[in-house]
Amino acid sequence: MNFRTVFIAIIIATGLIVSAYLVNSKRPRLIVEQPSAAFIRASGKCAECHRNLQYSIVHEFEMSQHAEKRVTCLDCHQVAQGQTGTNHYTFVISTKLTAANCRSCHETIYQQFLHSRHAAAAWAAVAGDTDFTPEQIAFAEQYQPGGVKRPPHPLTRLEGGAATQSGCYSCHSVGKPNEDGTIGNCTACHTRHTSSVELARLPSTCGQCHLGPDHSQLEIYTESKHGVMFAAQRNLLNLSAPPDHLTTRDMFVPTCATCHMSGINGRGVTHDPSERLSYYLFAEVTESRPNAGRARAKMKDICQQCHTAKLVDRIYAEGGAVVDATNEKMLAARAIMESLQQDGILSSTNFSQPIQFAYFDLWHYYGRTAKHGAFMGGADFVQWHGNYPILEHLVEIKAEAQQLREEHAKAGNAVSQ
Ligand code: HEC
Ligand code: HEC
Ligand code: HEC
Ligand code: HEC
Ligand code: HEC
Ligand code: HEC
Ligand code: HEC
Ligand code: HEC
Repeated sequence: MNFRTVFIAIIIATGLIVSAYLVNSKRPRLIVEQPSAAFIRASGKCAECHRNLQYSIVHEFEMSQHAEKRVTCLDCHQVAQGQTGTNHYTFVISTKLTAANCRSCHETIYQQFLHSRHAAAAWAAVAGDTDFTPEQIAFAEQYQPGGVKRPPHPLTRLEGGAATQSGCYSCHSVGKPNEDGTIGNCTACHTRHTSSVELARLPSTCGQCHLGPDHSQLEIYTESKHGVMFAAQRNLLNLSAPPDHLTTRDMFVPTCATCHMSGINGRGVTHDPSERLSYYLFAEVTESRPNAGRARAKMKDICQQCHTAKLVDRIYAEGGAVVDATNEKMLAARAIMESLQQDGILSSTNFSQPIQFAYFDLWHYYGRTAKHGAFMGGADFVQWHGNYPILEHLVEIKAEAQQLREEHAKAGNAVSQ
């Protein structure tokens, strides 16, 4: 063999190796890197087709803990109890995935979720109780009294089906009952294929729903010291630390999840964010929850993983004072509305007179916002998005009530003053 032949042979061999590598790198990582035969059969086949059809979906799955732990596409997509199957290229898959497809492996978490307001109460807040079985209602009412046994929200009828579908339901379907007998879905905070705790711990994930004038939690957080610190130090936090080992060394700045769900420093992670809440802040007039003492102790214990008891007690005292002051203002406005109603001046149909909107905005936007801001570090929301518009709306409601009374009297009706 002369030098020329050897040279050509080396070039060809190198070319073959490089092209083999190139071809291989275009194949799904699932097929190339996963050695288990069952895994390749279930995930590799799905991925082979779907990588070309929906690259993003397969890629999100590939990056997940599920792929690492050999959970296959079919593990989730198979037909769970109560679901109908459909033939799909030699596989049988479910036509609609729900919490049932997660609970098979995460039952404890599903049970915690069921106790929470993210489950049945969230759906009933919009659609009422008609979609639930009597057993589901009885179960949920044990944990969220008054949360499910109620009529549909009047705005759904007034705004119509299209608005409700793309509006209310988009956020509140986190707790919609499914045909297979389960409630809700787990994808609101985990997505369908990413399934990561890192994603779930980001404020923007909760902020998909927890934002806007009626529950400005994301905006409040963003302007709070915690939010500012998170923006500055996000890269230093270990956002993907496993939940049962999460410490303040991983998360030394809290996000929504840290205060409401995470089990930092061995405190016990929960999928029921009500566990640490002592007030019904969202209510027209705020009352303490049935388990207020225990819940408050739990939340304070979380704060105290990073703070002294003195600081935490001060925030709770100030927050409690804002709750009391806001209640007083709401009760004053409610008394005006009730007396108009008694005198037959107010329509019995809600949302049909401007004054009813003024009252709804008063408690639903500004009252809530003031209370939420006080507990989560949002001074601007206690003041300029809270108490200032509360004052303004109280003046407006009084003036409108007076005018309605005068018009009513002019029309020849007798009223009690
Ligand atoms: C031979 C190719 C092929 C294989 C193998 C395959 N799929 Fe599909 N899949 C498709 C095509 C094509 C569609 C229709 C896509 C479209 O409408 O754009 C589809 C649709 C789907 C849908 C949407 C169904 C719907 O009605 O909304 C899901 C979910 C799905 N596949 C999951 C899987 C899973 C899980 C596996 C493996 C167990 C798998 N697929 C295997 C080609 C395949
Ligand atoms: C952790 C559970 C889980 C795993 C694992 C999983 N999926 Fe899914 N997938 C879901 C859920 C939940 C949906 C939403 C189904 C629904 O709306 O009924 C979904 C939807 C889909 C869809 C329809 C998506 C769309 O946007 O139209 C396709 C296609 C799909 N999955 C393919 C796959 C493939 C391929 C794999 C493996 C590479 C896989 N899935 C692994 C849970 C999973
Ligand atoms: C076949 C069993 C199985 C199914 C079905 C399943 N999972 Fe998992 N899941 C696992 C395993 C195993 C892990 C790894 C956890 C561990 O090692 O403790 C995991 C981990 C997770 C994690 C934590 C990931 C992280 O970043 O630490 C989340 C979130 C998760 N699953 C959500 C879901 C959701 C949502 C569904 C349904 C759409 C689902 N899982 C369906 C088995 C499953
Ligand atoms: C952007 C997402 C989103 C949309 C859209 C949305 N909500 Fe909500 N809703 C929430 C969140 C988040 C809360 C929790 C607020 C809190 O606890 O402070 C909530 C709370 C509520 C509550 C009070 C809690 C309870 O159980 O009584 C009611 C009632 C309610 N929503 C009804 C509706 C209705 C009706 C619509 C449509 C007209 C709607 N929501 C649209 C996210 C949304
Ligand atoms: C409201 C948002 C939200 C919903 C809805 C939700 N999760 Fe989570 N999940 C989280 C957060 C936040 C964490 C991380 C907690 C922490 O910081 O340690 C988490 C963690 C997890 C983990 C890892 C837990 C562990 O101990 O390793 C699994 C598994 C999981 N969720 C499954 C589910 C399942 C199944 C459902 C539906 C029944 C669900 N999640 C619904 C927010 C959510
Ligand atoms: C898909 C929309 C959605 C997402 C995402 C979401 N929530 Fe919610 N959340 C709701 C709705 C709707 C309610 C109100 C349910 C009710 O009271 O009727 C709610 C209520 C709550 C409550 C009040 C519970 C109570 O007992 O009053 C807390 C706290 C909460 N969510 C925390 C979180 C956290 C933390 C995250 C992120 C890890 C998150 N949520 C993600 C929709 C969402
Ligand atoms: C530093 C801890 C902390 C952080 C961070 C935090 N919260 Fe809160 N949150 C609280 C406290 C404390 C309360 C009031 C507790 C009570 O009722 O006793 C509260 C109340 C709430 C409520 C009110 C429930 C009701 O009764 O209306 C919701 C919803 C909520 N938080 C969601 C969020 C969301 C979403 C984020 C992130 C954008 C967030 N929180 C960030 C501590 C925190
Ligand atoms: C995971 C750690 C952590 C948790 C949990 C936590 N915080 Fe903080 N907090 C911080 C950090 C870090 C700062 C800013 C550091 C500093 O100024 O020393 C801060 C700042 C504050 C400040 C501003 C102090 C000032 O005067 O500038 C208040 C108020 C506060 N936190 C209240 C709370 C309350 C109330 C809770 C519980 C509901 C809580 N925090 C939970 C880490 C945490």
